[in-house]
Amino acid sequence: MSVLLASLCAVLALVGAAAQAVIPHVDDCALCFHCTADAKPPPVLPSDMIAANFQPQNVTHKQTLPGSHGQKKLFNTWFRDETRNKKAIVKVACIPVGKHARHKFAQCYPDLALKYAKIYLAIEKLSEECGLTDIVPKVWVDWVNAVIPEVGYHIRWLGLWMEMVDGISLENLVRLGNPMMHPDDLLDILHNKVNHKQTILAAIFDLLTSQNDRHAQNIFIDNDGTMRLIDNERAFYENRILAADSILLPTTKKYTINVMENAWIHKFPNWGTKVPMCWANVALLFDYRCYVPGGQMGKNLPAQVGQCVARISSLNPEKVMQEYGLPAIHMAEALYNRSKAMHEQGFEYALTQGFPRNPNPWRYKFTPPCCKITHTDTYRCAHNWSPDTAIPFGDPITGGPWKHDRPDPGTYEGGTVF
Ligand SMILES: *[C@@H]1O[C@H](CO)[C@@H](O)[C@H](O)[C@H]1NC(C)=O
Ligand SMILES: *[C@@H]1O[C@H](CO)[C@@H](O)[C@H](O)[C@H]1NC(C)=O
Repeated sequence: MSVLLASLCAVLALVGAAAQAVIPHVDDCALCFHCTADAKPPPVLPSDMIAANFQPQNVTHKQTLPGSHGQKKLFNTWFRDETRNKKAIVKVACIPVGKHARHKFAQCYPDLALKYAKIYLAIEKLSEECGLTDIVPKVWVDWVNAVIPEVGYHIRWLGLWMEMVDGISLENLVRLGNPMMHPDDLLDILHNKVNHKQTILAAIFDLLTSQNDRHAQNIFIDNDGTMRLIDNERAFYENRILAADSILLPTTKKYTINVMENAWIHKFPNWGTKVPMCWANVALLFDYRCYVPGGQMGKNLPAQVGQCVARISSLNPEKVMQEYGLPAIHMAEALYNRSKAMHEQGFEYALTQGFPRNPNPWRYKFTPPCCKITHTDTYRCAHNWSPDTAIPFGDPITGGPWKHDRPDPGTYEGGTVF
């Protein structure tokens, strides 16, 4: 979630849960279940989806309390999702108090909270329709009625609730552990335990929703090899710059960084005359091309995805905006365009030629997939694998033209060759 939404945890609170007796006084409570101070919050109505409901109702109050601007508070605790009896976390904007106040006054962006809530709800609807619910946590908007432990501040406004996913991030799977997992065990999990049918769905999800920040920290893998994508709000071309950037999508920058050296992709000034190496980062095992016949998806989309993109492409951006509640017309257009391209021209066309489209400095060539990795001195592709390391002209940081004094190591116009 964006740094603008603080997350509130809650060992403490209760949302409309069946009232229970023991309520320690909030000021000294680190633990507080089932507070009964308030009645069950009313159901969320469409008319409640306004920015004002994502912040303290009393704005004066908001402005005079010391703020915790942008702190990302992911506490170790969570609410219970009553509907599934699972754990959920809730992200709440505009919490005006914090243990580590960094700014004198709270920064509060309820309009951004609303925008991201709308994006999540659109994704929720879309994933239900397209058969993608297995790979994303369920998300909903609801009233939060909770007291922050130790601080004692009572929150009573809308929050974004999400099913808490099991497992750990791909990043942590690879890096953490004490002792660290043996590379062979890691490779066994990634080759043989992960459900790579989901890898295909994940690539579809990232392209369809134009994910622009999919990295190894927001892909979760659980014990039984299930994969889930979290933090999906950077989507639908929301910033009007990045149309897709995902380690799951070949030809995007994040993917290509896992193929070649980061310093080469980023055109670091001290690169010199080295030849870039390709090491086969283990994230490459999440390349959908390894799991679809012939290494190409084309129009051969899973049935439910196929129906869903066909339906969306029969609408128009205005209708898409209305149906999915997207916060801006260009975002509805992004979903419409993407669906249409996938439906009419197939996945790879949509990825490389469709709209929205990355700026040319961020349109890389297809490198051959590396579908089997071994660990020797480092991770290496276990089969013949010689990616073309040529990179496009332009600034890899801004996506704009090359403006540095040194020569541009790029050798072709991105997007003209794949
Ligand atoms: C709003 O907050 C201010 C300052 O804390 C307080 O004086 C006022 O009574 C509050 N108004 C309401 C309606 O709660
Ligand atoms: C949608 O596609 C049209 C071309 O068909 C293009 O002009 C427009 O910029 C695209 N918009 C987005 C947000 O992708």
